[in-house]
Amino acid sequence: MKNRVLILDFGSQYTKLIARRIRELKVYTEIIPFRINIDQIRTLSPGAIILSGGPSSVYKKNAPKISRDILNLGIPILGICYGLQLIAFLSGMVVDSTKNREYGLATLEIGKKENRRLRSQLLKKVKNNSKVWMSHGDIISQFPRDFIVTARTENSEIAVIESEKRKLYGVQFHPEVIHTTEGTKLLSNFVFNIAGLKPDWDMENFIKSTIINIKNKVGKEKIILGLSGGVDSTVLALLLKKAIGKQLIPVFIDTGLLRKNEYKELMSGFKNKLDLNVIGIEAADIFIAKLANISSPEKKRKVIGKTFIDVFQSVEERVGKVKYLAQGTLYPDVIESVSVNGPSVTIKSHHNVGGLPKKMNWKLIEPFKELFKDEVRKVGKELGLEDELINRHPFPGPGLAVRIIGRITREKIEKLQQADLILHEELLHFNIYNQVWQAFIVLLSVKSVGVMGDIRTYENVAVIRMVNSIDGMTADWYPAPYDFLKKVSSRIVNEVKGINRVTYDLTSKPPGTIEWE
Ligand code: XMP
Repeated sequence: MKNRVLILDFGSQYTKLIARRIRELKVYTEIIPFRINIDQIRTLSPGAIILSGGPSSVYKKNAPKISRDILNLGIPILGICYGLQLIAFLSGMVVDSTKNREYGLATLEIGKKENRRLRSQLLKKVKNNSKVWMSHGDIISQFPRDFIVTARTENSEIAVIESEKRKLYGVQFHPEVIHTTEGTKLLSNFVFNIAGLKPDWDMENFIKSTIINIKNKVGKEKIILGLSGGVDSTVLALLLKKAIGKQLIPVFIDTGLLRKNEYKELMSGFKNKLDLNVIGIEAADIFIAKLANISSPEKKRKVIGKTFIDVFQSVEERVGKVKYLAQGTLYPDVIESVSVNGPSVTIKSHHNVGGLPKKMNWKLIEPFKELFKDEVRKVGKELGLEDELINRHPFPGPGLAVRIIGRITREKIEKLQQADLILHEELLHFNIYNQVWQAFIVLLSVKSVGVMGDIRTYENVAVIRMVNSIDGMTADWYPAPYDFLKKVSSRIVNEVKGINRVTYDLTSKPPGTIEWE
């Protein structure tokens, strides 16, 4: 058995959080759609399995289910919410709909009868009467055979079940959310005491094993890597350089859609601070020409993805045959596209993943596709990257193109760059830069009337967008201080010709996305 946890996803909004919590315990974990079959599970040979929550009800037609045989593999299994109900259902217990959905905090009463507590492996050292987070419509109503019930809440008589003999465990609440105060303790009991896994997943080991894998895979071939200036591609460059040295061809393209002065500053940083032998390509004319007259966000992304590849191909003429293209694709990008019901609806074709043409001459190498962003930052730290680069805000592959709503012109890019620079300066000045995940300006094509020095103006609107997030999958808008907003908006309207109104975006993700396009 491998030292890893497999999470079978039944569509819960919290599934990714389970993965985060397990990795925080330093155990490697992967999320797999529930449709995986028993042979695939045998091949993956996980040391433990977690069945996630999900919006369905086990009795519903087409409810997502797994084969009963998976429960008999002898691998320890923990079912969370829907996962618990599924274990119960497959073990012949009765699951009922409650009249009222139970949502929010509840108090966990451990083992009313003396013996329950003593025999509970899952709740070992978990404090009695701690708070747990509930979010369910069904409950188990019939006392389970083969199992013991080790805890209850006011509305769920059967809140935790355990079968030491069958190695099956289930909780009605969500131990992965922060509101369940003893959740980490419970997960750690499952992973270490019950499944006997070892805490060996850390970034030092990740770096060592990735370097070996890349060396074996690539041999003497060359890898081309597009740098964006963001933390993912920069850290990837350092890792690949360590693995294959001069066989790495790092390329930084000036698409004309970067922030003001960014191309020059980053080129010099790559060479002087990181000792990367970067090929710089000034291709603004090409990108801007290809984008002329395009206003659809998806079309912009596709055109940019294709143009990146065209420009990379010109590099091959300089350096000889290249076999691989490396990308800093992250785990959230991957799991977003493997939802429970197969590939999910495309929300955005991220340049990293979907914006690339289907037919390419290179094979993709994506060493970070198992990592969350904060893990990439840790890898960067291990590799000696300085904080300023590690903490840079994420910047989308298509750059300012997805921050100019509608058609792109040089004039609009220039306006946006100026406004963005002002925001950036004030973020540093007010010491806010490191408190937010991302902050940027969006330029709208909408015009509004204003008055400046007794003169009527009719100019564009700029939006300040500031959010906090852990992995970019969900985000909250940031309550920026008034003084800061006052300064930024006043500077933009006064200093950037063509913008006469500034607004603040108060939308979280979901329902919004972080970028506007
Ligand atoms: P959304 O707008 O999808 O963005 O909520 C989530 C995070 O991803 C960044 N983003 C991108 N990153 N290529 C990238 O490398 C892209 O095409 C792309 N689109 C969005 C976005 O800035 C945010 O941090």
